[in-house]
Amino acid sequence: MKKITIALDGPSGSGKSTIAKALSQKLNILYLDTGAMYRATAIKSLKLGIDTFDEDGVKTFIEDIDLKIKYVDGAQRTFLDGEDVSDKIREPHVSMAASNISSLKCVRLKMVDMQRKIASSMSCVLDGRDIGSFVLPNADYKFYITASVEVRTNRRFAELKQKGHDVDFEQLYKEIEQRDYNDKNRDFAPLKQADDAVLIDTSNMTIEEVINKVVSYIK
Ligand code: DC
Repeated sequence: MKKITIALDGPSGSGKSTIAKALSQKLNILYLDTGAMYRATAIKSLKLGIDTFDEDGVKTFIEDIDLKIKYVDGAQRTFLDGEDVSDKIREPHVSMAASNISSLKCVRLKMVDMQRKIASSMSCVLDGRDIGSFVLPNADYKFYITASVEVRTNRRFAELKQKGHDVDFEQLYKEIEQRDYNDKNRDFAPLKQADDAVLIDTSNMTIEEVINKVVSYIK
């Protein structure tokens, strides 16, 4: 099979990661969850006591950040300073910190560089915010996956509850709105639909329907 790259962008809770995982299994290609990289960077900043909006502070560690993506039994694991932080990065307070730190140009340049290196070496599906519009403008297939804020909050709420987190629906709703705003309005490489991306609104679709739709374009 020739090398292919698939870009999946969209706001949080739109279903991108579930779709990306399913695609990677169906097509037997790598799945790179780029959000995990911003989340790990946020943890590093919090660990050092550096505000996630403090660009000068973040610049002191970003170039030499020890961030590695490994694949264990086909699943992505994220390592920071040699520690597996794959579970820690999913904690609710990390979501907003990741959104904040991802607005810094120095962070994006570093992450994008790492993402392009991974994508150049093998067939893969990447999910994120700027994959089709900035990281891989020449990706073979581009999709912009979205859903209403209500639906996305419901999905995230169920997911967090299942993991045993104590979450307030209203607060989660506001956080998702705030993250959408941050991600869409930052100066450098914001969340946006690439001109040549296929738009899929998953609000009233099952995950199976979405996967079938995406696969129908790729075939
Ligand atoms: O997809 P996620 O919720 O794990 O991403 C966490 C944050 O990282 C998100 O609010 C915005 C940022 N992000 C980004 O700016 N660019 C990407 N390619 C992926 C994530």
